[in-house]
Amino acid sequence: MTTTLITGGMVVSATGRALADVLIDGETIAAVLAPGSTLLGNDLKTSVDKVIDATGKYVVPGGIDAHTHMQMPFGGTEASDTFETGTRAAAWGGTTTIVDFAIQSYGERVEDGLAAWHEKAAGNCAIDYGFHQIIGDVNEASLKAIDGLLDEGVSSFKLFMAYPGVFLSDDGQILKAMQKSASTGLLTMMHAENGSAIDILAQQLIADGKTDPYYHGIARAWQMEEEATHRAIMLANVTGAPLYVVHVSAKQAVAQIATARDAGQNVYGETCPQYLYLSLEDNLGAPGFEGAKWVCSTPLRSKEEGHQQQMWQALRTNDIQMVSTDHCPFCMKDQKELGIGNFSKIPNGIGSVEHRMDLLYQGVVNGHITLERWVEITSTTPARMFGMYGKKGVIAPGADGDILIYNPNGHTSIGYEKTHHMNMDHSAWEGYEIDGHVDTVLSRGKVIVDDNAYVGTKGDGQYVRRGLSQYLI
Ligand code: URP
Ligand code: ZN
Ligand code: ZN
Ligand code: ZN
Repeated sequence: MTTTLITGGMVVSATGRALADVLIDGETIAAVLAPGSTLLGNDLKTSVDKVIDATGKYVVPGGIDAHTHMQMPFGGTEASDTFETGTRAAAWGGTTTIVDFAIQSYGERVEDGLAAWHEKAAGNCAIDYGFHQIIGDVNEASLKAIDGLLDEGVSSFKLFMAYPGVFLSDDGQILKAMQKSASTGLLTMMHAENGSAIDILAQQLIADGKTDPYYHGIARAWQMEEEATHRAIMLANVTGAPLYVVHVSAKQAVAQIATARDAGQNVYGETCPQYLYLSLEDNLGAPGFEGAKWVCSTPLRSKEEGHQQQMWQALRTNDIQMVSTDHCPFCMKDQKELGIGNFSKIPNGIGSVEHRMDLLYQGVVNGHITLERWVEITSTTPARMFGMYGKKGVIAPGADGDILIYNPNGHTSIGYEKTHHMNMDHSAWEGYEIDGHVDTVLSRGKVIVDDNAYVGTKGDGQYVRRGLSQYLI
């Protein structure tokens, strides 16, 4: 067992910061000590196997990306990152845990869907991973299967109000699944967009010759997100289910969540880096077919309408609790290109798993959020929300040695030819310049990224059995 001492760094938590040394014994944090402390008279620096000098750097809990889709079958193709490539890219970016979505497709058993995702991930991951369960077919058998999920370490399931004929659940199905959520304590995650109305709008736009990627954002209007968010909140209210709205992009949806929270309901919201930085005009509206790179759902919103600014504010005020990526990468060639001449056939998704910590750190640089809030929304809240806190999301004795050493004076240029380890033929973040740099990443006490080198091994990552949410009351 290796003992490691991280010395001289500024240890940052969700509630404060202090210069401290972190002692890791094997896979687990053993102590957080005043700088230069001895332990029972021993000079720690000379008694440990490995010393990492973090002077001038932030020492923070490894990132937790609670929304990824590695090798997900979607839109007639499959997300281009495997668990191997996607988790390695995550490690490069300072993320040490992902929670991916196991899928029960229509006509399938939930148990078989979960088993299939274990099969894809086991032995392939660079970092630890857990699963949410997508319930794509709410019926008597799948409702019963929800009762068994917690024993499998799965404490949340996702339902869809979008994608008719694929994943969409109608209101009656949602109601029944939410009743299960209320009785089991499992968190309901909701893709809140009115998919039936959106599909009609999309067909009408295409019939009018409006086939470019830009119109993906027009069909998936903010009204469709606000309405579905409100409906989900009301269904949760009547059933007593705790509700977590995924990938929130419209400021009107944020307002729905804020209103429900102010009324005391257990409702939470997640946003993603793309909804903080990218827009309908600049990205989806890029010339020709280029906008396809940014086709995701919910869609990028209008810059003129000010959704991005509102989203930063909501993160600051806790109307939105955390940031995940919804990492769902597709190459342009042979994948996004399926939608040339018809935006509705472009596979939905953006690849960001590598850049979330860097992109959100810019919120600190730009004065949107504090350093502590950065840690909270990228690691501590995801850990609490999804039942991993204590082991994950915190630097404290007994926690896993999942640590990011971040250099605030470093610099990172993002782009396909630059920092990019995701299995994609482009970057949705081309040209982004980051004040800050992921220097060292430890996963359960083992250094896996060491100053611009990946030094981990395929299969380092283990399955995380999650408990019930520690966030809701
Ligand atoms: O565009 C997206 N979000 N693709 C992934 C599937 C989903 O709805 O999260
Ligand atoms: Zn979704
Ligand atoms: Zn998603
Ligand atoms: Zn470096």
